[in-house]
Amino acid sequence: MDFKTLAEIAVEAKRKAYPPYSNFHVGAALLTADDKIILGCNIEISSYSLTICAERTAIFKAYSDGDRKFKAIAIASDDPDFCPPCGACRQVIHDLCGDIDVVMINIRNELKIVKLSELLPFPFGDEHLK
Ligand code: THU
Repeated sequence: MDFKTLAEIAVEAKRKAYPPYSNFHVGAALLTADDKIILGCNIEISSYSLTICAERTAIFKAYSDGDRKFKAIAIASDDPDFCPPCGACRQVIHDLCGDIDVVMINIRNELKIVKLSELLPFPFGDEHLK
């Protein structure tokens, strides 16, 4: 699976977004180590802080299906520019996916690919709890 295709799948996943308050649609496509793709979208709740981002929807779906190893996550949004994962999602990606590739796509279908460790240097993690 090439990252361009993964990013295009994230664009498709965006169509399922449920953002009645922000009207900002986000889609995610999570690539497992065995080349499965798990989709996610943002889902907003009237008590706003209960909203879940597209990335965490995809990651929690994957975990609940038993997937534990991942290669990359692609993110597409309504932002004409690249949409990076929010701080909370960076922590969740670090804990549950490790240092995977984060693939962002802009309105011109260009890709920006960074490692999670570039987005979250010096992370807190399970090693601090031992
Ligand atoms: N959002 C995501 O789904 N992923 C991100 O990384 C950034 C923000 C969603 C949350 C909320 O529904 C909307 O975008 C506006 O913040």
